[in-house]
Amino acid sequence: MDKKIEWFRLVVHIGAWGTLLVLILVNFFNPNSVNPILTFEHHTGTAALIFLILSLAGTPVGSILEWKDFAKRKKALGVYGFMFAAVHVLAFLWLDYGFQFKFIFNVVKNTVYIWFGLAAFIMALALAITSFKKMKQLMKKNWKRLHRLAYVIAPLAVIHFFLIVKANILTLQGNVIEPLIYGSIVLILLLVRIPPIKRGLINLRTAIQSRTRRPNPV
Ligand code: HEM
Repeated sequence: MDKKIEWFRLVVHIGAWGTLLVLILVNFFNPNSVNPILTFEHHTGTAALIFLILSLAGTPVGSILEWKDFAKRKKALGVYGFMFAAVHVLAFLWLDYGFQFKFIFNVVKNTVYIWFGLAAFIMALALAITSFKKMKQLMKKNWKRLHRLAYVIAPLAVIHFFLIVKANILTLQGNVIEPLIYGSIVLILLLVRIPPIKRGLINLRTAIQSRTRRPNPV
């Protein structure tokens, strides 16, 4: 058993469940919480986005930085991203609207930012339920095709965020900084997959490694 891999795996699982526990405690068991439902909705949305971004980082971090343990956990990170998105949607349906589907349908129909969130959520759901080994074997080539949606989910979630804070990137109006940071990270993670950029970064890493490596004692 490789102990290093097991440690990183532990960090991912404890990190995700620990975050969920902290978000529940901070929002619902805190007497100073002013609007616990809305802040819980915001916090779980942010956590979903962060885990989806970490999952998207798996492949480039594995190939460019050679951090293979991280790359191995990209599936778990993506599933946790979906878990936080599901809690986020549940908070919206249950805590915010008490499952009153007539109202919910009207809100969803008339709110553009929800369309983007919903699209991201449905795609994340499709990836989560097909994330098992058995499904991969059953779906064969279609599994890879379907899992290309991973490149679309995080950008859709970032647009959802931009629309919520009514941010305007050109005039920097609204609370633009936070979605801009997430958007830039997503853009970088997509750009570093382009083969010439990826090759350039791998060459840079090997050049730095060979310069900093100590010569072997004779
Ligand atoms: C993968 C799917 C999704 C992700 C990653 C996501 C992420 C986010 C993020 C980052 C925020 C802003 C948090 C902040 O302001 O700090 C947010 C807010 C919100 N999201 Fe989502 N979301 C998703 C899907 C959905 C869906 C499907 C719905 C509704 C059906 C939804 C409803 C909301 C609402 C109501 C807010 C708060 C808006 C407000 O401040 O008025 N989200 N979400």
